[in-house]
Parts: sequence; structure tokens; C-alpha cells
Amino acid sequence: MFASRATHVELSGIRKMFEAAPSGAINLGLGEPDFQPPLHILEALERAVRGGMNKYGPTGGLPELRSAVAERLSRYAPVTPDQVLITTGATQALCATTLSLVDRGDEVLTPDPGFVLFAPHITLASGTPVFYKVRKNDAFQPRLDELSELVTPKTKAIIVNSPGNPTGGVLDRKTIKGIVEVAEDNDLLIISDEVYEPFVYEGRHETFLGTYDKLVYVNSFSKLFAMTGWRIGYLVAAPEIVKTLAKISYYFIACPPTPTQVAVLAGLRGPQDFVTHMVKEFHHRREMIVGLLSRIEGFDCPWPKGAFYTFPSFDFELTSEDLAFKILKAGVICTPGSAFGAGGEGHLRFSYANSRENIAKGVEIVSKVAQSLQ
Ligand SMILES: Cc1ncc(COP(=O)(O)O)c(C=O)c1O
Repeated sequence: MFASRATHVELSGIRKMFEAAPSGAINLGLGEPDFQPPLHILEALERAVRGGMNKYGPTGGLPELRSAVAERLSRYAPVTPDQVLITTGATQALCATTLSLVDRGDEVLTPDPGFVLFAPHITLASGTPVFYKVRKNDAFQPRLDELSELVTPKTKAIIVNSPGNPTGGVLDRKTIKGIVEVAEDNDLLIISDEVYEPFVYEGRHETFLGTYDKLVYVNSFSKLFAMTGWRIGYLVAAPEIVKTLAKISYYFIACPPTPTQVAVLAGLRGPQDFVTHMVKEFHHRREMIVGLLSRIEGFDCPWPKGAFYTFPSFDFELTSEDLAFKILKAGVICTPGSAFGAGGEGHLRFSYANSRENIAKGVEIVSKVAQSLQ
């Protein structure tokens, strides 16, 4: 009954865990800030809805928001509004990008472990995902020689994600330069997912923006303003790419939601102390969760440099899915590393987008499960 594209992708391993969770389980599986958007943004949304901003808008997004995004990004590189496309989250930005730029038979290099959308989007576009490894011992930076060796005449693009989900790895300037060189040498597109841009705890965020012409830069307001349910993201690319992606987007979404765009605009124009406060809190929780997990025998917990996940490895004799299910039964939701690709096996992903109290309680339960396996 189903088209092959629908059956060639599986239910995401993150969703699987949520669907199996007992009620009352402590959620360390979350991929979203446990904060609410600040009041001035909520009020702007209310004003927008009450004021009649409830209609279709331009497919490319509200012009004022495109300008505001371009302005925000000028800290990294000059960006003009016609290089910006507003999307329904980074999810749709990534999907429109692969569907518009990846053809049947094209190969796309994508990180392993890597975020759950990347490979299925390539498959849905009838392309072939080719995985490059990112390893704990390399601080989750790809090895450039391995990346080059994976390039074939069919390779179309490289997907990069920094700060990274699930690893918390942050690409350094040198690695970014090296990846750009591989892309340049082989005339490849770079698709850079930087949705965790504000969440960097060591050093500063290094971007691909402004480093390469054949770049699709993807970002989102989901995490920045704690509004994952509002579905507003954006991408930046050359104007001719943006035009085609907007054309394709029309057939999927008609336009990004109007009222939430108005509210996001208020967020960009208003005070940014909410973001500073949220990132500071995540920084604190990072110290806490890594400290607690590191004390558990059998776990090796590297310091995530960014995002809000830890990705410890373990040396028990069972798969990450079996271990995650044992932990789930004991009352904590986490995500098996294998949900992010074969390279994630032997790891678990814990999100620290939960209260300090729940993190402490949750890791205590994980510790008991680990003891029972010794
Ligand atoms: C790396 C990465 N990219 C994209 C997304 C999707 O973000 P959005 O809510 O903007 O669709 C997520 C969400 O968890 C993510 O972790």
C-alpha cells in the first residue's frame, strides 16, 4: 500500500522511547528547553492573534523577519534579506534543502552518530546517506582524511551539525576550515545545522556562515526562545537557492505560520537577557550531570562543549537500546545511542533540559541500574 519512500524510513528511536515510557518517568530524553518563551514574546503573539495576523503570509516569510534575521547574522557575515528563507522550523528547512538539492542516486555525507532527521531526509529525497564517523576520542570532530576518502563522483553534499546532537560536540575553526576545503576541492554543497548556536559552554560558537559560497545554513528559534511548538526556523543561502527552496516550500507548507513570526520578530528586537539566563542555567546543569554520571562505574562521560546533551559511553555487555529500556523501566527516559546511527552504539544520550532536581533524581536511578549490571 505505501510508497517505498514511506517504508524506507523507520520510526525515530527518540519517539520509540517516549511511546514506551511509564507515566511519571523522569524525562532526560527531551530535545527542547524546559523553559517558556519570555513574556514580551508571549504578549507579542497575543497581540498578533488578536490584531488579525491570522492569515497566509509570503512563502519566504515576513519581509521584516527576513531583514531582522539578516541583521542578527551580520555578527558572523554580511547577509541580505533575499538570502534568508523563513521556514516551519529547522526540520522543514532541512527537508526543503535535501528535496530541492539532492537527486536520485546522489550521495550525501552525514555524521554518525548524527541527528535523526539527516539520513531519513536524504532517503526521502531518493539519495544515499554516506556516514562519516565522529568519535568521543576526537571530541566528536570528523577526521578530515576519512571525510575525503568517502567522497565519490556521486557525492553532492556534506551535512554538518555544530553544536552537535546527540554528542554535544562543537566543531573548531580548524576543522571547519578543513571541511570547507574538502567541499571546495570536490565542488560539494555544505548543509550546516547550527540550531544549538547559543548553547556553547567552552570557547565560542564557530559558524560555517561566511566561509563558503555553496552553503545552506540552517537555524531555528525553537531552542533560542524555547518555542519548539511554534515552528519557526530559517535558512540562509545564495538568493537563487533561496528562490528555489521557497518554490518547493510552497507545496509543503504554503507559508510559515504568520502570528508566531510576528512574535519572533518581537523576540529579536527585544531584550536578550532571557537567552543569557537560560544558557547560564544549562551551563550549570552540564557541570552537574557530567559530574554525577562520571561517578558511575561503567560509564565514561565526556564534557559536551555545546547543545544540552551528554553522550556517555558504557562498557556493559548489552546494546544501548536494551540498556535504555532497563533505565526506562526503572523510571528514567533517555535515548539509546543507536537511535543516532550505528556509530552511537555503546552510548546513551541524556538531555539536561530538565530541572536540577530531576537530573539528580534521574542520575541516581541510572546509577542503581548500572550497579545492578556490575
Ligand atoms: C540538530 C537539530 N536540528 C534540527 C532540529 C529541529 O529543530 P526545529 O524545532 O527548528 O524543527 C533539532 C531538534 O531537536 C535538532 O536537534
